Amino acid sequence: MSFLIRGGRPLNGELTIQTSKNASLPIISASILTNEYVTLKKIPNITDTHNMLEIMKKLGVIVSKRGRTITLNSKNASGKQLDCELSKTMRSSLFLLGSTLSRFKQVMITMPGGCKIGKRPIDIHINAFKRLNVDVTYAGDYICFDAQNARANKIKLKLPSVGATENIIQFACKLKGKTTIINAAREPEVVDLANFLNLMGAKIIGAGSKKITIYGVNSLHGVSYTPAGDRIVAGTIMIAVAMCGGKVTIKNGVPHANKKLIEILSKLGCQIKIKNDIIKISKTTPLLPIGEISTGYYPDFPTDLQSFMLALASVTTGETKINENVFENRFLIVDELQKMGANIKKLNNNLVQVRGTQNLLGAEVDALDLRGGASLVLAGLAAQGQTKVNNVHFIDRGYEHLEVVLRKLGADIKRI
Ligand code: EPZ
Repeated sequence: MSFLIRGGRPLNGELTIQTSKNASLPIISASILTNEYVTLKKIPNITDTHNMLEIMKKLGVIVSKRGRTITLNSKNASGKQLDCELSKTMRSSLFLLGSTLSRFKQVMITMPGGCKIGKRPIDIHINAFKRLNVDVTYAGDYICFDAQNARANKIKLKLPSVGATENIIQFACKLKGKTTIINAAREPEVVDLANFLNLMGAKIIGAGSKKITIYGVNSLHGVSYTPAGDRIVAGTIMIAVAMCGGKVTIKNGVPHANKKLIEILSKLGCQIKIKNDIIKISKTTPLLPIGEISTGYYPDFPTDLQSFMLALASVTTGETKINENVFENRFLIVDELQKMGANIKKLNNNLVQVRGTQNLLGAEVDALDLRGGASLVLAGLAAQGQTKVNNVHFIDRGYEHLEVVLRKLGADIKRI
């Protein structure tokens, strides 16, 4: 499956941003922590949430879906299929570890596959569970977790891992005593998960800060919940306007979660107005040189928007340096952008130098990962002529019909 794009058109109109993929996944996982009904609203129709729901069904969770409203009930959930389901699919199944270990007390997973952007180790997860007196053993390529004698404790993360923070929160919700996470991830998706669990009766304090405290409770009750807007999808659309020009109103745009990006785009010359959850962005004059971008842990500039900044830098005059400090191999689209005439030099695995050129030329390129693939779409929108982006299944993992969204804003793009 590919996208065929004819570039050079500005983007105009308005759209409502889909609900966050990276909030929906741990929240779907956490629904297994109660035997009562959980209703999740506006869950995006994307591959990753579909796969997560398929795994839940295999665990015996009753899942019903009406449009984007998902109802889950875990009263008959059992852990027997756990070992064969948890990690054959995508990385996000790792996010089930905390909730299923809390519920079933024993979980077996195979090392989740690394992916193109990095080897994606899980040592921080494993060390955290060991701190909670979870017995971790290895059998072949399986890792077995046994939580029969788990005990609340203080855990200091060597890195503010989002997944590890979310797994510990889910596991500690019903673990007697006080569990503290030091150097916790501060991402908005962690806050969303904590809000969801607190509505179910959990006692989680400090989500969004470096120190999170969880007081174990005996049980959690059902709830109806709508996760927040997807800050990375909102950032994608903002950068698309910065690259193509035009004027777009973004609803459900979670501006508070994109402060760094909004600051940068405003400095470059985009006009951005914010009112509550609505972002109005327009670009009518050539952008100023970007200078330097460094990704980091939230609230630093998000690694998930780095590929988009690479595409933007490719069409912005002047020189840009981009440092990728979170993942070790997240410059996969450099070769693909070079096929379109981008002037990019890879100085090392974490640093690229871009000399902007006014006119990228349409070409046939390959999506190699989720965010890199979406960035190639934006490059195609800004390029002269026709671009074909192959392997769009990568993009479908995190974007609900990206081509439909962009076409509604005036882009010439179709799925073939
Ligand atoms: C989450 O992945 C997101 N995925 C990623 O988004 C995002 O890029 C990442 O957080 C960073 O913000 C979901 O939420 C589903 P980490 P996660 O653990 O939790 C290293 C997207 O495009 N690390 O915060 O897997 C790791 O290698 C995806 O939507 C260890 O060393 O990321 C990385 O260098 C891509 N040991 C750094 O920490 C561990 O045990 C941050 O990873 C775990 C992680």
